[in-house]
Amino acid sequence: MTSAPTHIPVLLKETIEALAVQPGGRYIDCTLGAGGHTVAILDRSSPGGQLLGIDADPEAIKIARARLEAYSSSILLVNENFVDLEAICIKYDFLPVHGILFDLGLSSLQLNSRGRGFSFQHDAPLDMRLNPSQEITAADIINTSSEAELAHLLKTYGEEGYSHQITHRIVQERPIKTTLQLVRVIERAVGRRRGKLHPATRTFQALRIAVNHELENLEAALKRAINLLGFDGRLVVISYHSLEDRIVKQLMQRESKDCICPPSVPTCVCGHRACLRLINKRVITPSPAEVQLNPRSRSAKLRVAERIITHDEYYRTTEEYRFSAQVNGGWRRPALLEKLRVTFSAL
Ligand SMILES: C[S@@+](CC[C@H](N)C(=O)[O-])C[C@H]1O[C@@H](n2cnc3c(N)ncnc32)[C@H](O)[C@@H]1O
Repeated sequence: MTSAPTHIPVLLKETIEALAVQPGGRYIDCTLGAGGHTVAILDRSSPGGQLLGIDADPEAIKIARARLEAYSSSILLVNENFVDLEAICIKYDFLPVHGILFDLGLSSLQLNSRGRGFSFQHDAPLDMRLNPSQEITAADIINTSSEAELAHLLKTYGEEGYSHQITHRIVQERPIKTTLQLVRVIERAVGRRRGKLHPATRTFQALRIAVNHELENLEAALKRAINLLGFDGRLVVISYHSLEDRIVKQLMQRESKDCICPPSVPTCVCGHRACLRLINKRVITPSPAEVQLNPRSRSAKLRVAERIITHDEYYRTTEEYRFSAQVNGGWRRPALLEKLRVTFSAL
C-alpha cells in the first residue's frame, strides 16, 4: 500500500499508544515529514479516522502526499507552519481533536537533501529554511549579525561552549556562503575533533533554530494545541534536544497544576487551573534495539499529556450540555468553539 520508507519513524509504537488512537478518531500530525507516524495513526484509526497533516516544508508535503495516496479520503495535508495551528483548524473546521502529535526537528530526507544546507556533511549554500518562501537564510544570519549577536545565538541555541572562539573566526573570515566553508572555519577555530560530537554540530543546530524560529514556534504551538484538544484528547511531543524538551516539559508541568504561585506565597493568588494530566511522569526514550536500528532516534524524548476539563469549562447550563451532547456524542466544547470562531472571524 505504501512505498519503502525513507525516514524511519521514531518511537512509533510508543507514539500510537501515547496518542491512544481509536477507530473513528480525529488527529493532527503537526510534523508530517515523510508520513511515517501518519500512516500508523491512519491504520489504527480506521474505520472512520481523519487526519490533518501539517508541514512547513513544501517538499515534505509533496513526498507525503504521494506516499499517502491510498488514504486520500481520510487526510487533509497542508503546507503551513504549525505555529498557525489554531487558524489552520478553524479554516478547515478540524476541531476539536482526539490527539495531536509533534515529532520535532528534521526528517532524514531533509538532512540528506544536498541542496538545503541542513547538514555539515554535504556542501551546499547556507540556507536551512524549512520553507523556501521565508526571507532570512542561515547565510544572512552568519554574514550580517554582529560578533556579539552571533556568540549569543551559538551559546543559547547551540549550547556551544566555544561560542566566542567560533564567532571571532567567523567574523574574520566572512563572507561565508556554504556549509563546508563554515565547517572549515569552525575547525580552524576549535580544532577538528572534540569528543563524540562533530565540532560543527552545535553551530548548525543554533543556526537552524534561529532561521526557523523553532523554539518560539514550538512554545506558541503547544499552547494552541492544548486548546484544540477535546476532553481526554492527547498531546504527544517527541523532541531531540534539551532546549525543545525543556519547553515541552515545563509547559506540560505548568498546565497540569491547579496553582502556579511561587512556593513563598502562602495562599493561592494566581487562579491558574490545570487543563492537562501528565500521562508519563518520566520521559519515554527509545530502547537500545531501536537506537541500534535507527541511530537518529538516540536523543529522542517523548512526553504525553491528556486534556482534562477545567473548572471554567464545566457546562454551566442544561442548554449548553444538550448542544454538546447532540454534536459528536457529547464531546465538543461549545463554549471554546464559539470563542475561537468569534476570535478568528473578527480577524
Ligand atoms: C522529524 S520530521 C517528522 C517525521 C515524521 N514523523 C515521519 O515519521 O515521517 C519533522 C518534520 O516537521 C517539519 N517541521 C518542523 N518544524 C515545523 C513547523 N514549525 N511547522 C510545520 N512543520 C514543521 C519538518 O519540515 C519535518 O518534515
